[in-house]
Amino acid sequence: MSPAVPDLSAIHAFLLCPTPDAWVQAALAEPEMLLVDHANCEKKAAGTALNLMFRYLDDFELLNKMSRLAREELRHFEQVLAIMEKRGIDYPHVSASRYAAGLRQQVRGAEPARLVDTLICGAIIEARSCERFARIAPHLDDELQKFYLSLLKSEARHFRDYLALAEKAAGEDIRARVQALLEVEKGLVVGVDADFRFHSGVPQT
Ligand SMILES: [Fe+2]
Ligand SMILES: [Fe+2]
Repeated sequence: MSPAVPDLSAIHAFLLCPTPDAWVQAALAEPEMLLVDHANCEKKAAGTALNLMFRYLDDFELLNKMSRLAREELRHFEQVLAIMEKRGIDYPHVSASRYAAGLRQQVRGAEPARLVDTLICGAIIEARSCERFARIAPHLDDELQKFYLSLLKSEARHFRDYLALAEKAAGEDIRARVQALLEVEKGLVVGVDADFRFHSGVPQT
């Protein structure tokens, strides 16, 4: 039996647009790339959390949450890797989609804005990943469907943790900044991308 789908209404309300159907079609057409780039995403998610742990030492809540998050992302990475190995899927180097870089470009340089923006971007990326796992799961085979649904709970928690840490780091209302970054994210999701990736936009036709 597949795990129950957790309530994702907060994530759907947060993001400004759903993943376009064309992305789902592209993902189904490139099942190997879906797993390869998914593996990369988990690895990068762990790396982002570790970077924050090296840069910011004064917030023990942040250190604890990022440490746990990094471990969970590495566990997810191992799970993707196991599925790839079982299915005989190679793990080539592939270019990153413009999604994360496009968001990161928006991060302001001076502190505490740099930390706040990095955490908001983390929340957005986690929310989108969660939305995509839920979106594509019903179209996948049993093993992948089960796996992707099992990820929803932790990715939804990562979204909430990042957002709460951003609010705390800002010490002020961050709604306007979140909205501005969500607008950028929407542009990346509905924009056209030449190559299919886990976070790519609409495929070029
Ligand atoms: Fe993950
Ligand atoms: Fe995550």
